[in-house]
Amino acid sequence: MKRNILITGGAGNIGGSLARCLVENKQDNIVVVDNFITGSRNKLPNENRNNFQFFEADANSMQEMKDIFSEIKFDVVFHYAALVGVERTINNPLLVLEDIEGIKNILKLSVKNGVKRFFFSSSSEVYGEPVELPQHESRTPLNAKLPYAIVKNVCESYCKSYKQVHGLDYTIMRFFNTYGPLQSQDFVISKFINQAINHEDITINGDGSQTRTFLYVDDNVNFITKLLNTDGCLNDTVNIGSSEQITILELANLIIDITGSKSKITYQPALTEGDMTRRQPDISKMKKVYSRELISLEEGIKKYLSTI
Ligand SMILES: NC(=O)c1ccc[n+]([C@@H]2O[C@H](COP(=O)([O-])OP(=O)(O)OC[C@H]3O[C@@H](n4cnc5c(N)ncnc54)[C@H](O)[C@@H]3O)[C@@H](O)[C@H]2O)c1
Repeated sequence: MKRNILITGGAGNIGGSLARCLVENKQDNIVVVDNFITGSRNKLPNENRNNFQFFEADANSMQEMKDIFSEIKFDVVFHYAALVGVERTINNPLLVLEDIEGIKNILKLSVKNGVKRFFFSSSSEVYGEPVELPQHESRTPLNAKLPYAIVKNVCESYCKSYKQVHGLDYTIMRFFNTYGPLQSQDFVISKFINQAINHEDITINGDGSQTRTFLYVDDNVNFITKLLNTDGCLNDTVNIGSSEQITILELANLIIDITGSKSKITYQPALTEGDMTRRQPDISKMKKVYSRELISLEEGIKKYLSTI
């Protein structure tokens, strides 16, 4: 049966990658809404396809979203629109808090218009500075302090409350660092790759000992497509990421090696907030649905480079 699928924030890295994948199934009609605050038109699927529509609109504006929902009856919603980026969100806290209006609008309209399933892109940031590793969906306490993380936490709460009160089925997806060719240049892997291929200094905040895990966007999209086409993680919260840890300094060296770059590593003062020391998801719930081996960081960086 044909499904109408809405992706808010679908001109961005993860939303654009999902939209490009989903349009391949001609049975589905994919609709993207984006206001281009960090996204761009060239991340969208080819607009000449007859199962794809794009609306330039603000997910935080009830009026704009209402018009779109009255035009199309959606079966599934992916709500990915959000202000992102550590420095951008720290410098614009009130704009970040506006995203609470976005989730309220989209949930309200979803219930009113009979949406069957609602997917929300939460973040590893809800765990804040980790109290334990790996971070588990239900056992690890949430230690969110910054507006971006608090907003994600509030949005998660809205999803669960809409299920409780209105019966709207949801899946909360806590994304850990996800990279790929559509990522903006201000995120660590894109930034380092760009500096490396131009033989410019690679700048690290702090001493580079902070660890991260990185998931190539294809694994994120393939896993989510599996959730969409099954009842996987229905009315549940799932970490989506890789469990392989690497320090930021090791990452810089790996990118220099793979690209054969002459870049030197330089250091600048650590960020005063927002740069967690450690982050590592417990991905046992994800792996129950997605048993395939994840793309390694080295392979992912090579795939990324092949698109430049
Ligand atoms: N990439 C990651 O590592 C990561 C990690 C954790 C969570 N997330 C979450 O995943 C989602 C997608 O992130 P991304 O990495 O693709 O970032 P991105 O910046 O590439 O995508 C976000 C998109 O949302 C759009 N947008 C923002 N506010 C909007 C609004 N009010 N109305 C309409 N469009 C709006 C932007 O223009 C952009 O296209 C976000 O919700 C983000 O918080 C991403």
